[in-house]
Amino acid sequence: MSLVGVDEAVGVLRAGGLVGVPSETVYGLAADGTNAAAVASVFARKGRPRGHPLILHVLDDPWAYAARDPRAEALVARFWPGPLTLVLPRLPSALDEVTGGRSTVAVRSPSHPVFRALLAGLGRPIAAPSANRFGGVSPTTAAHVLSDFPDLPVVDGGDADVGVESTILALLGDRPAILRPGAVDRDALVAVLGPVDATGDTPAPGNLPSHYAPRARVEVSDDPEGLARSLVAAGLRVAVLPPEPPGRYAATLYERLRAHDASGVDVIVAPWCSDVGVGAAVNDRLRRAAAGR
Ligand code: TXA
Ligand code: MG
Repeated sequence: MSLVGVDEAVGVLRAGGLVGVPSETVYGLAADGTNAAAVASVFARKGRPRGHPLILHVLDDPWAYAARDPRAEALVARFWPGPLTLVLPRLPSALDEVTGGRSTVAVRSPSHPVFRALLAGLGRPIAAPSANRFGGVSPTTAAHVLSDFPDLPVVDGGDADVGVESTILALLGDRPAILRPGAVDRDALVAVLGPVDATGDTPAPGNLPSHYAPRARVEVSDDPEGLARSLVAAGLRVAVLPPEPPGRYAATLYERLRAHDASGVDVIVAPWCSDVGVGAAVNDRLRRAAAGR
């Protein structure tokens, strides 16, 4: 275990190193967002292909890195800090290593007090993807991060509240588009913006169908118990996720996928979640997990 405190973590970031950090959504693999070499090392550490851009995390508003947009200003006022990432035209101050050389940058202000203490201590933005190996299940505890990166210094901020990654909203053309559903749901965005395109119309770069996949096969079903019985009858080792309301389903999903994976089952059978609130994000992640690796 290499758990570290906030001051030590700030020192590591300042020196160009990487740190596992808690957020309200999932844990992140953090680098100083203004240090090109540090940001580049995130890709190598994660096994992530270049050109999958990172989210730039900021303490307050994003206008030092992203072009101003009145719609974004309204969303920042309403939802930040919190689990909403905005994709906006970038300013030159956003590093190519962060944006993958695109003309846009993804920005988010996390609400987790430990993440905020790191941003305040560093005095710079933090670039961070989820702190898992590429294509795997995102971490919601410090122990998950250490199981993927045993040598990484990690700040323990407890279990992630939300449990799934932030909503990503692109504000590029006339019509806002959700690139990845999360806890800030479409209805909440529509209430501020009017019409918003749903996920699927515009795929996020790197938001692959097969993301978030454990090693075991995942099957999503309206009748999980019935499906599990037939899989067991076929000689497979099977785990079944319990039905949960959306908030609880989101908060427990990744922990359960990881725990069942570690126990060596062949198949994890999951019920669909009610599609309200963060439930749409749960079903999106279930669909991707079921798409395999
Ligand atoms: O909740 C979260 O968003 C967590 C915490 C740590 O903040 N972070 C996270 O990062 O989930 P990551 O890298 O695992 O997912 C970020 C997604 C990727 O699919 C990436 O392609 C997309 O954001 N993204 C980043 N910059 C983008 C851009 N300029 N345009 C479109 N998509 C972008
Ligand atoms: Mg990720």
